[in-house]
Amino acid sequence: MPKKKDKSKIILQTPKGMHDILPEDFVFYKTIYDKAEEISNYYGFMPIKTPHLERLELFNAGLGDTSDIIEKQMYTLKTQGGDKLALRPEGTAPIMRSYIEHGMQTWPQPVMFQYQGSFFRHEKPQKGRLRELQQFGLEIIGEEKPVAEAMTIRVLTLILEELGLKSIVVHINSLGDKECRNNYRKELLGFYKKRLGQLCRDCKNRYSKNPLRILDCKEEKCIEIKAEAPQMINYLCTPCKQHLKEVLEFLDSNNISYFLDTHLVRGLDYYSRTVFEFFEEKSEEENETPIALGAGGRYDYLAHALSNKNFPAIGGALGIDRIVQTMKDRSIPVRHSKPSKIFFIQLGTAAKYKSLKIIETLRKAHVPVIQSISKDTLKSQLRIASKLNMSYALILGQREALEDSIIIKDMDTSTQETVPIEKIVEFIKKKL
Ligand code: HAM
Repeated sequence: MPKKKDKSKIILQTPKGMHDILPEDFVFYKTIYDKAEEISNYYGFMPIKTPHLERLELFNAGLGDTSDIIEKQMYTLKTQGGDKLALRPEGTAPIMRSYIEHGMQTWPQPVMFQYQGSFFRHEKPQKGRLRELQQFGLEIIGEEKPVAEAMTIRVLTLILEELGLKSIVVHINSLGDKECRNNYRKELLGFYKKRLGQLCRDCKNRYSKNPLRILDCKEEKCIEIKAEAPQMINYLCTPCKQHLKEVLEFLDSNNISYFLDTHLVRGLDYYSRTVFEFFEEKSEEENETPIALGAGGRYDYLAHALSNKNFPAIGGALGIDRIVQTMKDRSIPVRHSKPSKIFFIQLGTAAKYKSLKIIETLRKAHVPVIQSISKDTLKSQLRIASKLNMSYALILGQREALEDSIIIKDMDTSTQETVPIEKIVEFIKKKL
């Protein structure tokens, strides 16, 4: 007889590449989102939220048929009504969709957005690669000048630095515009034609579909060949060269460390001109392959791919899960909310009803308490309070509930006093 699969083993596991964020990690996520929001609000990025599900056609039209996301990483579904939808793999195409759908080109330009949340990619799970990933992103739509790159890169590096990641380097390149990129593409095809036999299977495929993507391959042999490949920077037309020059001048004048990575291309096909990725500069002993903490670029042709309209745009997104991991690896502390020092014990039904009112009074007075709703005895609850290292226990028994009083017990000295309920806030504040 074939062995039965242990059903509970499957039921009790999150899907591959997805994970629970437990309280000890949640505080990292919150710290990062709070910092990202604080800085982005200050620079005028308006918050926006788009649905987790979008029409499949949005991503097919926006991200490019030959991107890995479209070819193999999308979670798609067909609704009972027959619509084809996709769980969003990224946020840029949905925000451009929203901009066009709501006629935001009539608003004062550029329109600057900030967004955050989960995105879904059916990738092979490995270090730094999840199937449900979290991003914080910025998009500036309606600005063609390099000042938009300057603003995006400045704000994203500020967020990383203020979180305590001090040695951030921006890898940057230009992919040119349609014309100059086409000349480069021809040059690249010529270069790889002679080396086709040495490329990995995926890259042989990329050669005919989208040769620029060969430069993004992580296979050892393809990386070796890339070192000799022609560089886009030598094929840029004069306006694209000038654009890149202005972006780099800005980085210089703001002391933002960068590395002109002349083979940097990106996994999404909507980019033109500037592309960038953020890395943490590693010490020499750390020889692990670095993973990008964030990335972005200009996507002046995306609006046209979706709607035949032209809106220049730029943006970037931080990979929050990777930042959490890096902060933990570096032992960067995060601020935990002020721990409570008071344990609230209520005994009996009358006390339980009354306690809700008292707890609300304490909350309004910003006195944090941990409340016990257990039915345990006074003794066992005091034991919990002592285990949690509480300084005081507030005890509301049947008698106190009737007399409108409450006992406050000092957990260190084991002394206790009975205080009228209306005086409790004043009394505790004096003690803490
Ligand atoms: P992306 O490079 O695909 O760009 O993702 C941005 C960041 O999200 C990456 O640098 C990385 O930190 C994180 N990330 C990506 N995939 C994963 C994964 N599977 N697991 C964990 N983290 C991941 C975009 O998504 C563009 N929409 C960014 C952009 C905004 N471009 C213009 N505007």
